[in-house]
Amino acid sequence: MLASALALAACDRQGAAQAAAVDLPPLKSLAAFPVGTCVQAVQLDDPGFAALVAAQVSQLTAEWEMKMEYIVQDDGSFRFDAPDRIAAFARTHGLRFFGHTLVWYAQSPPAFERLDAGRIAFDGAYRNYIHAVVGRYRGQAVGWDVVNEAVAEDGEGWRDSLWSQRLGRLEHMTLAFQHAREADPEAVLFLNDYNLENLPKKRATFLKLAEALLKAGAPLGGLGTQTHVAADLKAGELAAALKDLASLGLPIHLSEMDVSLSRAEGLIRDPAKLAAGQARVYAEAAEAFSSLPAQQRFAFTHWGLRDKDSWLKREDAADTPLLFDDAGRPKSAAAAWAGGLR
Ligand code: XIL
Repeated sequence: MLASALALAACDRQGAAQAAAVDLPPLKSLAAFPVGTCVQAVQLDDPGFAALVAAQVSQLTAEWEMKMEYIVQDDGSFRFDAPDRIAAFARTHGLRFFGHTLVWYAQSPPAFERLDAGRIAFDGAYRNYIHAVVGRYRGQAVGWDVVNEAVAEDGEGWRDSLWSQRLGRLEHMTLAFQHAREADPEAVLFLNDYNLENLPKKRATFLKLAEALLKAGAPLGGLGTQTHVAADLKAGELAAALKDLASLGLPIHLSEMDVSLSRAEGLIRDPAKLAAGQARVYAEAAEAFSSLPAQQRFAFTHWGLRDKDSWLKREDAADTPLLFDDAGRPKSAAAAWAGGLR
């Protein structure tokens, strides 16, 4: 019984993989706005991957090597080898380069934690960090996620973090934007967050935070909506969220899209239904983003291209949340995304 179920599942997977590949021109040639992906420096050593990236997208984000966890070393010094490689790849291939991310509640390197509670020393180190990182890519980075995931999941205010404790709840964010602006007068500075499609209360708090930052004098220049969604996202939710986010008039970065099948608890575990749901969500995202006023379409970034590279594989190795199969061939989800473009 179990053996035949496994054989069937294997068959399904093969069938799905074979049916998946479609003919499609490069994503960036189809869209009227920049199309991005995230990369890790080590992946660029794979010629097949490098060629796929150079062909398909016009913007790169470092998947994790421009976060504090990589840049800030234990002794408090900084390392830029991996980010420099990604930046060089972007330059060589004429791709835009996007900075991700400066201040994130989830990361508080020991070198910062060890600083005494004295606010002056802490603020000096905070400013020094932002200046070093943003200044290094000044003139190349088109934008930065300055503050990542600041809003509480239940929409009740803002998250607590090392940064908020030492520098103040709103103030640490205002300061980060101001320091980033000093370090690069041109880059568009973003507030970036997730679950803004399916949690309207969180979205409302996110928009209120954006307004509070602007009022406090932060040079906030754009809003990032990660868009890590699932194939059972209700029809219309993503479009409504983008419209709402655009209401402040700021540029929008759809910054980290993937559409999980494994997280789609509302759908029966039927491969055809899951694939159809995923395609529908990708189509809606492309259409809703295309419908924004041209000057508000900063970029549309996929959080990876090939399924096998997705961070969601760590949660469920069977998930296939992206537009390209493991061999780098566009899937029907890619055709659906392209079909939604206007
Ligand atoms: C993820 C990366 O994909 C992983 O490789 C890393 O280990 C953890 O972070 N929100 C974000 C991204 O802003 O930085 C996260 O990326 C995904 C969720």
